[in-house]
Amino acid sequence: MRKPFVAANWKMNKTAAEARELVSAMLPGLQSVTTVERVICPPATTVPAVSEILSGTGIGVGTQNMHWEENGAYTGELSPEMVKEFCEYVILGHSERRAYFAETDETVNKKLKAALAHDLIPIVCVGETLEENEAGKTDEVVIREIKEGLKDISKTDAVKIVIAYEPIWAIGTGKAATGDLANDVIARTIRVPLKEMFGEDVAGQIRVLYGGSVKSSNAAEFFNQPEIDGALVGGASLKADDFPKIIKAAEL
Ligand code: PGA
Repeated sequence: MRKPFVAANWKMNKTAAEARELVSAMLPGLQSVTTVERVICPPATTVPAVSEILSGTGIGVGTQNMHWEENGAYTGELSPEMVKEFCEYVILGHSERRAYFAETDETVNKKLKAALAHDLIPIVCVGETLEENEAGKTDEVVIREIKEGLKDISKTDAVKIVIAYEPIWAIGTGKAATGDLANDVIARTIRVPLKEMFGEDVAGQIRVLYGGSVKSSNAAEFFNQPEIDGALVGGASLKADDFPKIIKAAEL
C-alpha cells in the first residue's frame, strides 16, 4: 500500500510575512489528517519562516528547484546542502522550469541524483503540452521524460522518488484532466516504463501524483483512481480553506 501524498506548490507567490500567515492559517487543517504525507513547497526566501512554523508538526517542507552542484559560481542557484538545511523535499523538472528556464531531461536527471545523494525526497514532474497532446504524442513525451529523467537510478533510490504527472494544458487553466484519463496515462506512460526499468515490485512502490487544476471539489475523483497516490497542487494550495480539504480527500 502506497501512502497518500499531497504537496503544495506555491510557485512565485507570497513574501515571508504572507507565507507565515498562510501556513499558520492552514496548520490546524493540515494537522488534522495524519495518514497523508503532507508537504509545502513555498518560494525559497520564505522556506526558513515556513519550516520554523512546521517544525515538529509532521508536515514537510520543500523547495521548487535546486542545482546539482555542491557550491560555486552558479549565480541565483541553491545547492542540495542549502536545501537540506531547511527541507526534506524538492520539486524537480516542473513544466514551468522546463518551459521558461531551459530545464531538460538531462538536467532533471542530474538534479535527481543530487537530491537522492543528499537524502532529499524528489518530486519529479512530467507531462505533455497541449500541442503534444493534440498531436497524439502524450505517450512518447511522458515515457521519454521518465526514462531519461530517471536514468541510472538504483532500485533502492527509485522507491524514494515521487512522480507528478501534470498535463501542461491542465496547469493553472482550471481545466483539469478527468480521473479516468489521468489514471490511464499514468498506467501506460509511467507505471509501464517504471516496471521495465526497476521491476514490478519497485514500480509498485513508487508514488505517482496527479497535478493540474486540482481543488477540493475535484480531488476525490483523482484520489479514487488505482494508479494515483495524491496530488501536486498549485493555485488551490494558496487557499487556506481549500488546501486542507484536498488533504482530507486523500485520507485512506
Ligand atoms: P495548478 O498547478 O494546481 O495551479 O494547476 C499545479 C502545478 O503546477 O503544480
